[in-house]
Amino acid sequence: MSRLPVPLTVIQALPPSTPLDRNQPPTQLIDSFGRVIRDLRLSITDRCNFRCVYCMDPDVTFAPRDELLTIDEHLDIARVAVRLGVTKVRITGGEPALHPGLIDLIRGLAGFNVDGSLDIAITTNGSFLDASTAGRWREAGLTRVTLSLDSLRQDRFAAITRSNATVDDVLAGIEAAKNAGLDPVRVNAVIVRGVNEDELVDLAQLARRLAIDVRLIEYMPLDSAHAWERTKVVPATEMLERIGSVYPLTPIGRDTTSSPATVFRFSDQPANSSGRIGIIASVTRSFCSTCSRLRITADGKVRPCLFAHDEWDIRPLLRTPSDSGALSVPSPVADGGGAERSEAEGVLFPPPRAGEVPSLRGGGGLPSVPNAHRNGTHDSHAPDPSRDAAIARFLADAVYAKTAGHIIDSPDFRQPARTMSAIGG
Ligand code: 5AD
Ligand code: SF4
Repeated sequence: MSRLPVPLTVIQALPPSTPLDRNQPPTQLIDSFGRVIRDLRLSITDRCNFRCVYCMDPDVTFAPRDELLTIDEHLDIARVAVRLGVTKVRITGGEPALHPGLIDLIRGLAGFNVDGSLDIAITTNGSFLDASTAGRWREAGLTRVTLSLDSLRQDRFAAITRSNATVDDVLAGIEAAKNAGLDPVRVNAVIVRGVNEDELVDLAQLARRLAIDVRLIEYMPLDSAHAWERTKVVPATEMLERIGSVYPLTPIGRDTTSSPATVFRFSDQPANSSGRIGIIASVTRSFCSTCSRLRITADGKVRPCLFAHDEWDIRPLLRTPSDSGALSVPSPVADGGGAERSEAEGVLFPPPRAGEVPSLRGGGGLPSVPNAHRNGTHDSHAPDPSRDAAIARFLADAVYAKTAGHIIDSPDFRQPARTMSAIGG
């Protein structure tokens, strides 16, 4: 049995001085290394109309629909997370545009944006993004959009995505998003050796021509085919060299401390020009030490890290009637693909005991955020303080167990059973 993974990333911060005082409601989401969670990623579906080779099998089995969280359940989590300091919510999938409740979700999230500081983003494959959809997303309160586009060559695009969509569909989606006022509009491209590294300069050209950020992502071991090999990773340094030899680049740094991308501008363009290159070097230069992300999978598992082997099932708590007196508390479960959970993958502290739901005595607890998505309609999950307190405690506990980082570069690395599409990017 292997030992707890040894982080290759140096975590600078100290653990919190009072780890999770169980008599006090949590006021922020902070892990045992002192990293504060600001970025919540909600995967609202595991379904997708693409079958990207680096992500999803052609014969993938999706979770039964009743196991997927409802939009209201996602909003319950988001409302509490925003109260606990989350400033950015990214909607992911699968392909989130396939979800009929997407607009309701965006509207609900926008209702939590009391002081205008909440960023509401989406990651989409872009195949459904026409002018009317982009307009509706924007009008509902979406601020930014990231589209995936790994190749500009139609035959290659088809081979990578194994879909009926076209490069032109995605290019039209980018245009539609820009015209709708979504800002920024970004493109993600996963670069895989032998697949598309010869298009790096073309992708840089796209960034220049459309004046958008193109983010080049190192291929991560999250593919369902388990075909990932170290040799298929095109390292950030090589990507930069290839582009830089044609379009010299000037480093800008990260947009925010916890941003996964290191950003470069084109040296021949003005310093404030919009077309830029972002490099997400998840494999060769991991950024775990500044990570501020927390993920909720479509089936309601709380995953503090993309590469986690432990995840926390919040669905039972969300589905416990508020008046049952039995609001439950988290317990770790083995990850979705049935991988055996070893003791070594246990949480960093004992799971809370049953019934340990904090009360909100004396007006303590969470600052308030409006329940904008409720619309006055009957809702069996209507927010109440004890439910919100239980969700807050659950999220705080799960975050506290966030591991130091992934160990992709170590021989001890073991790919999580969940693939990217089953986690939410
Ligand atoms: N490695 C790197 N990035 C990936 N994505 C999906 N699978 C992988 C992988 N194995 C990216 C997609 C999308 C985002 C959600 O995650 O390209 O942009
Ligand atoms: Fe779908 Fe995105 Fe996975 Fe491609 S990477 S199959 S678009 S979820």
